[in-house]
Amino acid sequence: MKSTAKAAAHPNIAFIKYWGNQNHDLRIPSNGSLSMNLKGLETQTTVSFDTDLEQDQLIINTESADEGALTRVSTLLDRIRELAEIKTRAQVVSENNFPTGTGIASSASAFAALTLASVTALGLCLSEKELSQLARTGSGSASRSIPGGFVEWQAGIDHDSSFAETIAPAEHWDLVDFIVLVSREHKKTGSSQGHQIADTSPLQKVRVEDAKRRLDICRKALLEKDFPTFAEIVELDSNMMHSVMMTSDPPLYYWQPGTLEIMAAVQIWRSEGLPVCFTIDAGPNLHLICPAEASEAVKRKLGALVNVKSILTSTPGGPARLLEPEITGV
Ligand code: DP6
Repeated sequence: MKSTAKAAAHPNIAFIKYWGNQNHDLRIPSNGSLSMNLKGLETQTTVSFDTDLEQDQLIINTESADEGALTRVSTLLDRIRELAEIKTRAQVVSENNFPTGTGIASSASAFAALTLASVTALGLCLSEKELSQLARTGSGSASRSIPGGFVEWQAGIDHDSSFAETIAPAEHWDLVDFIVLVSREHKKTGSSQGHQIADTSPLQKVRVEDAKRRLDICRKALLEKDFPTFAEIVELDSNMMHSVMMTSDPPLYYWQPGTLEIMAAVQIWRSEGLPVCFTIDAGPNLHLICPAEASEAVKRKLGALVNVKSILTSTPGGPARLLEPEITGV
C-alpha cells in the first residue's frame, strides 16, 4: 500500500538571524528571528510512504543523497510516524529550482516541504503552528518557511513554545532581494555545526541578550515600512552574527574579498541616498535588500562590480503549499 503527497516551500532570508541553540536536538534557538520567504525559489518534495520499502530513501535533484542527509530526513520522518502511529518507510524525492552550493540555504525550504508532504501523505491534520514546530526539528530555519510572507520565529523554551508565525503577508512591502554570488565554493562549515559552537564565542551572550531589542526595532520598521531604520538594524544583526562566528572556537570566517567589497559599496550607496542594505548568512554570498522602486538602480550599481559572479532576484513569497494529495490508504 502506498500513500503519496507532494508539497513546495520557499527558502527564506533572515533579517534578524538564528545562530546557536538552547537545545540542539529539538533546535530550540538561543534567540528569536525574523525573515522573508523568497518567491520564485523553491523546493518541491514528494513523499511516498510504501509498505514494500525496508528503508527510507532520499533522492535530491535526481541523485541518491548521502548517509548524513538521509539520517537527518529519517529522524524527522520518525517523529511524524510516531504521531501517525505507523512504522511504514518512505521514499522522499526532492528538487530545488535554485542552484545548490550557492549559499542559498536549501535546508529551510527542503524541511518545510518535507514536513507538509509527509504529514499530508499520512492523513494527519495539523495546524500551521504544529507544522512549523515539526519543520523546526529538521532545520531551525525551516520553521520560518511554513508560514507565508514576513515571518517571526519565537525562540520559546521548549518544543511547544518554539514556532514561527506570519507578522505581515507577502503583499505588505514590495522589497526586492538580490542574492549576489561572489563565490561558488562549497562552504567548509555548515550552519548545524556552527550552531553547536556558537556558545564558545564570548560575544554570543551579548548578541543573544540584545536580540529582543533588535527584533523589536526590526519588526516595527518592517510593519511601518521604515527602510532607513530597517537597513541599519538588518546590517547590525548580520554583523553581530558574523562577529560571533569569527570569535568561535574554531573561528568561522565566511567572508571573502568580494563579500567585503560589496559590503563597503552598499555603505557608500546608502550614504548617497540609495535605499539598500546587505545581510549575509553562513557563506560568502550577500543578500541585498531594497524597496522595489530602488531595484533598477541597485542592479545597475551591482553590474559595475568585478566580484559579482551572478545574481538571483527574489521578492516576498507565500507559505509552504500542497501540490498533490493522492491518498490511497496506508
Ligand atoms: C545563518 O536553519 O540552516 O542562515 O537548524 O542546523 O538546520 P539548522 O541551521 P539553519 O541555520 C540558519 C542560519 C542562518 C541564519 C538564519 O537563517 O536565521
